[in-house]
Amino acid sequence: MRSTIPSKLTRRSFLRASALTGAGLVLPSGFLAGCGDDDGGQAAIPLEVDPSIPWWMQNNFDGVFEERSESNLAVRGSIPSSLDGLYVRNGSNPQSGVNTHWFLGDGMLHGVRLRDGQALWYRNRYTQTPLYVEGLEPDEAIPLGPNNNSNVSPVYHAGRLLTSGEVGFPFEIDPSDMSTIGPQDFGGNLETSFTAHPKIDPVTGHMHAFGYLFGPPFVTYYVIDANGDWIHSQVLDARGPTMMHSFAITDREAIFWELPVTFQPDLFDSGFPYGWDASFGARIGVLPLGGSVEDMRWVEIEPCYVFHELNAYRDGDEIVIDVMRYDRMMDGERFGSIDPMFTRWRVDTSGESLGFRDELLDDRPMEFPVHDRRFTGRRNRYGWFTTTRDHPDTIDFQGVAMRDQETGAMSEWDPGANRQAGEAFFVPEGDAEGEGWLLTFVYDRATDTTDLAILDAMNVRKGPVAEIRMPQRVPFGFHGVWIPA
Ligand SMILES: [Fe+2]
Repeated sequence: MRSTIPSKLTRRSFLRASALTGAGLVLPSGFLAGCGDDDGGQAAIPLEVDPSIPWWMQNNFDGVFEERSESNLAVRGSIPSSLDGLYVRNGSNPQSGVNTHWFLGDGMLHGVRLRDGQALWYRNRYTQTPLYVEGLEPDEAIPLGPNNNSNVSPVYHAGRLLTSGEVGFPFEIDPSDMSTIGPQDFGGNLETSFTAHPKIDPVTGHMHAFGYLFGPPFVTYYVIDANGDWIHSQVLDARGPTMMHSFAITDREAIFWELPVTFQPDLFDSGFPYGWDASFGARIGVLPLGGSVEDMRWVEIEPCYVFHELNAYRDGDEIVIDVMRYDRMMDGERFGSIDPMFTRWRVDTSGESLGFRDELLDDRPMEFPVHDRRFTGRRNRYGWFTTTRDHPDTIDFQGVAMRDQETGAMSEWDPGANRQAGEAFFVPEGDAEGEGWLLTFVYDRATDTTDLAILDAMNVRKGPVAEIRMPQRVPFGFHGVWIPA
């Protein structure tokens, strides 16, 4: 596979040359005119994929290579004055310009500082992992401790901004300038890895997390208290080396899904060592928060795959977990070819054995579910998603959707034929669920530019209240977070 990838020098030289001719804060005519979902009168440009290059190394998946610091960004519309803080988004951005899988690239953070209705600055920074600093590919270092790309998510808890690549240790970042402070092992307590999707209980402030490994102990559960101190660790009775991307909590238990995407050393040559193995089986595990593995219960389910859940909560004796469910994943087909279905899992805890049933909630193609984190583990009414369009050769992100879980009503913002949104992170304002703002990068392939769009979370259909032009294109990435000032 590597032989089909352009050499580092060729590719990087090309990108550098392109940057020289295309760099700078160039605002297309009409940018300052107003906000909306129009294309500025531009015709739709087909999203074409060059079959000789992996899809994650072209279009807006391709990286940017200059670390920039720019002040006083151009704004269209009006930034809510209540937004005083830093939006940070992580992503895979291989410094060599090449990688064998979308998930394997040096982590790069893009940060935008907002205050008093202004966009004070933009900075993009590589996280200074040993792999980045030494210029190593992920397969050139044992993926333990600080040896990871740290490219999946930012996490903000107990005053610390961390990045996680779900492999090895997270890295602490200084939010004042986006510089890397160093790997974080919680006083030596973290010995395996740290999920990119920990859950912060909104009542206790505890951060619940886990790590998975390619060897024993396969899955370990952790709790870090509201002060950032490590208070609990428990090796779970996982049955093998599964790729466990996320999990969920209710107000009283942690929910794990152990699914049949497993570590398979013979897949190393394919560029990514995890693949589908239906014979591994699939099950959901329920562990009391802060509990012991002796109290863990599992229920078997049909083989499937889930990266992300919207949320989970108790409904009487049942645990409700709303997930983006794929029928299968990484089974040799192009990643992204199988649309997930928004699905409700119900785990019945009333009997001696756990019961299970599921139902389809929505078949609208979408991913990156986001909830109002003041309701993590509690019944939530609203969910926000990034919608996608069908495309045979790449992931075609589209806009932002809000789903009312009580009525099933969906409202969407389509940013236009040439524009593509990413994960829309929810920032609360006021007290009621859903009262707040959504922040998402929106890429425009007609102008090769990216805006940070701000939407009223309860009025998604209306489109952005503000769009902030980024000084450079921001590649598609994974997850974001908001750090209040
Ligand atoms: Fe994720």
